[in-house]
Amino acid sequence: MHSFIYHSPTKVLFGPDSEDHVAEEIAALGAKHVFLVYGGGSVVRSGLLARVTAGLKAAGFDCMECGGVQPNPRLSFARDAAKKAAAFGADFILALGGGSAIDTAKAVALGAAEPEHDLWDYWLGTRAPERSLPVGAVLTISAAGSETSDSAVLTDEETGVKRGLSSPFNRPRFAVMDPELTFTLPKYQIACGVVDIMMHTMDRYFTPTTGNQLTDAFAEALLRTVIANGPAALADSRNYDAMSELMWCGSVSHNGLTGLGAATDFSPHKLGHELSGKFDVAHGASLSAVWGAWARYSWRAHPERFAQFARNVWGIRAALDEEAAEAAIETTLAFFRSLDMPTCFTELGIGVQDDGVLAEMADRATRGDTFVIGSFRPLRRADALEIYRLANH
Ligand code: NZQ
Ligand code: ZN
Repeated sequence: MHSFIYHSPTKVLFGPDSEDHVAEEIAALGAKHVFLVYGGGSVVRSGLLARVTAGLKAAGFDCMECGGVQPNPRLSFARDAAKKAAAFGADFILALGGGSAIDTAKAVALGAAEPEHDLWDYWLGTRAPERSLPVGAVLTISAAGSETSDSAVLTDEETGVKRGLSSPFNRPRFAVMDPELTFTLPKYQIACGVVDIMMHTMDRYFTPTTGNQLTDAFAEALLRTVIANGPAALADSRNYDAMSELMWCGSVSHNGLTGLGAATDFSPHKLGHELSGKFDVAHGASLSAVWGAWARYSWRAHPERFAQFARNVWGIRAALDEEAAEAAIETTLAFFRSLDMPTCFTELGIGVQDDGVLAEMADRATRGDTFVIGSFRPLRRADALEIYRLANH
C-alpha cells in the first residue's frame, strides 16, 4: 500500500427531504448572499429550485439565481456567472443539479473569489488557486460524484478542450443527497450515471499497485452494488432502494476511497474527455464507448488484475488468468449494452471518424505527446491513437 493523505471533508445529508436543511447548513457557515447555479430547467420543472429558494429567503438570505448550465459545462458560462456572483457580493455558491451544475458552481466560486484572474488559468495549470468561496450541492443525478470530489471539469467551447482541475478548494462544504430528487431522471441519464460510477471505480482499480486488500474490497463491493442496482433503477426510476444505492455509490466512487494507497489510471476518462470535448457527447456514454478498446489494448500489462476483476466482480470461474481477463472484458461490454450504452463510436452516434480526427484527439489527450496517460499501461500518443482506432467502428 502506498502512503496517502485522505481528506474528504464534505458533510453529507442523505435521505428524503434532506434539502430542507440547506438554509441551516449555509447559515452555520456564516454566509448571507447565496448565488444559485443550475442547469437547463429540470430543477425548475421539479419544483426543487422554488422550494430551496423559498426556504433561503424565509431564513433571511439574499439570493441570486443563475440557470442555463449545459451538460459538458462551458467555460464562457462559468466566466460570466463568476462576474455576476462577484457583482452580487456572493459569499456562498449553491449548485442544484448534477456534475455540470456543481462543476460550474466550483468554477464560479474560484472566479468570484479572485476576480482579477481568469479562472481558466487554474484549469490550464498556469496559476494555482489561492482562494475560493464555499460551495454546497443539492444533487439530482447520481453520476459524476462531483458533490464530494475535489475536481471540476470544464470545456473551452472555442477550442474544444475539456479539462479537469483537482484542488482542495473544489470540495463542497456539504452535499444534499435525496434519492427522491433523482426519480425524474430519463433512462439514458440513469444509464450514463451507472457507467460513470463504475468507471470512477475501475479507473482506480486498474492499477499496477498490488497488495491493497481493503481498497480493492471497497472497489469490488461498490462495483457489485452498481451492477445489481443499475438495471433495477432503469426498470423503475422511482425504486427508492435502487436509486439510493446508486446515489451513495456515485459519491463514494469519486471521493478517493476506492483508490486509496494505489496509483490511479484514469485513461478511459482522459480518452473519453476528448470525445466529449469534440463531439459534445454525454460523459458516461463517452466512457463506455472507449472502455472496451482501452481494456483490449491494455489488459496484458497486468492480466492478473483483470482476472481478479473477473472473479471478484463478475463471478467468472475460468481457471487461467488470461481466459478470465478476456471473459471479464466481454461481460463488462455486454453489461453496458444491456443498459443501451454505446461500446464503440457508431453506437455513440458520432459515426466512423477519419484517422486525422483520431490523431487530433490522441494529440490533445497527451498534450502533443508530452504527457503520459495513466499507470496501468502508460499511454503515449501512439497508444492513444491505437485505442481510438480500435473503438472507431
Ligand atoms: O440541465 P438540466 O435541465 O438540470 O438536466 C440535466 C442534464 O440534461 C439532467 N438532469 C439532472 N438531474 C435531473 C435531470 N433530468 C431530470 N431529472 C433530474 N433529477 O441530466 C442531464 C445531465 O446532467 P449533468 O449535470 O451534465 O450530468 P452529470 O452529473 O453526469 O455530469 C456530467 C459532467 O460532470 C463531469 C463530466 O465530464 C460532465 O461534464 N464530471 C465531473 C467530475 C467531477 N467534478 O468530479 C468527475 C466526472 O468524471 C466527470 O468528468
Ligand atoms: Zn466520470
